[in-house]
Amino acid sequence: MTSANRDPEMFPDPDTFNINRYPNLHVAFGAGIHHCLGATLARLEGQEAFKSLAERLPNLRLEPQELEHVPSITFRSLKALQVSWN
Ligand code: HEM
Repeated sequence: MTSANRDPEMFPDPDTFNINRYPNLHVAFGAGIHHCLGATLARLEGQEAFKSLAERLPNLRLEPQELEHVPSITFRSLKALQVSWN
């Protein structure tokens, strides 16, 4: 799924985070008969979480850092993400 979501034939400039990407036919919630049952809840939670974060920490910014990923053949995730908000 992670490589499908970065398929250059499907997504122009696939490694760029583009919140306005449209159409965005990703498969992060799977597809077909086993499509994620919690996708609507997960989207709602994401909207509320990022909205609250932006409201409560308006100065939130990334610290300069080397990013390290958790070794995994399934999902790609960061070991840590350093931020500051002062
Ligand atoms: C960002 C959050 C989430 C992501 C990225 C995600 C992703 C996925 C993916 C990729 C699948 C398909 C797995 C497969 O094809 O074998 C799946 C299935 C499923 N998800 Fe999620 N999920 C999320 C949140 C949730 C939440 C919040 C719930 C429940 C409250 C949930 C419940 C389920 C269930 C029950 C299935 C199995 C559906 C089936 O096999 O018919 N998920 N999810």
